[in-house]
This record gives sequence, C-alpha cells and structure tokens, in this order.
Amino acid sequence: MRILVADTFPQESREALARRGHECHYEPTTTSDQLPGVLTGFDAVIVRSTKVTADAFEAADSLRLVIRAGSGTNTIDCHAARLRGVHVCNVPGRNAAAVAELTLGLLLAIDRRIPDNVAELRQGQWNKKEYGQARGIMGRRVGVLGLGQIGLAFAERVAALGTDVYTVAKEGRDEDTLERARRIGVTFVDSPRTLAATCDVLSIHVPANSRTRGLVGRDLLDALQPGAIVLNTSRGDVLDEDALLEAMAAKDVRAGLDVFSGEPATGTGTFDSPLARHPNTYGTHHIGASTEQAQQAVADGVVEIIDAFEAGSVLHC
Ligand code: MLT
Repeated sequence: MRILVADTFPQESREALARRGHECHYEPTTTSDQLPGVLTGFDAVIVRSTKVTADAFEAADSLRLVIRAGSGTNTIDCHAARLRGVHVCNVPGRNAAAVAELTLGLLLAIDRRIPDNVAELRQGQWNKKEYGQARGIMGRRVGVLGLGQIGLAFAERVAALGTDVYTVAKEGRDEDTLERARRIGVTFVDSPRTLAATCDVLSIHVPANSRTRGLVGRDLLDALQPGAIVLNTSRGDVLDEDALLEAMAAKDVRAGLDVFSGEPATGTGTFDSPLARHPNTYGTHHIGASTEQAQQAVADGVVEIIDAFEAGSVLHC
C-alpha cells in the first residue's frame, strides 16, 4: 500500500510498515489545509491532529483507508468518507491511561493550585499563607460523565485517592465495564443533571458527536455547587464555554481543560481564547494522549489495522 503518514508517528512503527512492503511517506508537518493537495496516489492516510475534510476526500483519487491515530474521529468528515467508499478507522482505548493520568493531574493541580505556586516561585515569591486553603481530594464526590475506556481508567485512578465516584446509569454496558465499576464502588445516578448536582468534581469523557455537542451546557453547569471543579479532556465542543465562563464568575467554578472549541488543528499555532486565559482555568494543549507509552500503543494499533485491512477486514470502525 502507499501510505501517507501526515502526522508525528513513531519511527519503529514506520519501519514495521516498510518491512511489510508498504511504501510509507512520512510528512508529519502536513496541515489540514495542505492535505487535499498531497493525497493523490495514496491508498491510506494516517492522521492525528490533521483534519480530513470533504475537500480532502474529493481530491483523493485512490484513497481506501483513513486511520485516526487516537480515539476520536471528529476530525474526519465521516459522511464524505462514506460517500467516497473510504473506510475510517480509529484506535480507541490504547491511550486511555495517558488521558486518565492527565485528568488526574489537572484535578490535583487545581485543588493545590500547583501552577500558581510554580509561577510565583519562578518570580522569586514565597507565599505559603496564600496556599493554605486547598480542600483536598479524599472524600470528594467525583462525577464521571461517560464511562468508556478513558472514563473508566480515570474513575479507577481517582477512586484510589479515596473519592466517591458517580456516573450516569446507561443501558447496554458490557460486563467488563460493569465489573470494573462495581470493584471501585461506582454509584449510578439517573441523569447528567443529577450527576452535576450530586458531585463537586465533574469530569467529562464523552466523544464529540451530534448527541454530545454542548451536552455540558447551562442546565448542567447551573446544577453545580459553588467552588465545583469541571475537568474536560475529551473534546471542547462537548462543553458550552460561554456557560462555563458564567459559572466561573457566578460561583467560582474552576476548570481543568485539555481541549477547547476551535483549538488549532495542528501541533503549533496561536490560540486566543477567553476561557483559556481565565484565571480559573488550568489549561493544557490537548496533550492527554501525548506520552511515549500511549503514542507507541496507538501506533501498534495502527499497524494492526493496516495488517487486517490487507487481509480483508476493517478494524475498530
Ligand atoms: C484521541 O482522540 O484519542 C486524542 O485526541 C488523541 C490525540 O490527541 O492524539
């Protein structure tokens, strides 16, 4: 196969593809805008942040497979892919531990105001009295919105800190999820609103799609208690950012956000967002999956997808 790798991808995995006889073109700086102009002649494209738009599908003459090296497929125009008969595969779950670790890190950073401590010390300030008011994590009620692989990985980690974990009851959960949820004593509630009203930490782990866009809006944020913490390491569009800014002003809600609406679709760029600049926001640059372990695990999944595709089956779609 002729494969375009349009994003950063481990060398070991590129070599694994070459050993299988694939022609692998490594162009990790390809932007979303450039992609339509460079897809001609490729059978497959591997992307991480780079968007695959309807224009890209239109321009591609021999494309059969798009692989998103991560969980979410919201950066791929799946409708355009279907119209052109191109398969879209993702690699869910392999980066779950990394995203859960970052979510936990954001929670701890907010509670102890670690970034503010660091910033002051870097400016030569010693301010122990200012930081005597942390609430602590043990015994807090943590709502996990979306108990998929990442939500569950976060739930397990945060439960180990002595918190009480809640989530929304949903039909059709698999036995493994239910067993893991039982093991950490997850309490199921009837709706996202009840979850928000019950918990003092709300952590969002749902994919972005037409059902979840704006899911965490005014209604849910109004239900939060004063001083609650909102964590979002899923997708920016799931959260109503204006409503969050209002909740910050009205009741000192603080937020740990790894994702933002309109964040750049490339690894670098400028980003001017009132929410990201707000003092109650502890933001990171969509780095949830950015660990060596996670990226290697995802890359292994990508190679498995290509092997399976060559053998006639389509994985993880
Ligand atoms: C995902 O969808 O799993 C993450 O967005 C992946 C990433 O940032 O690489």
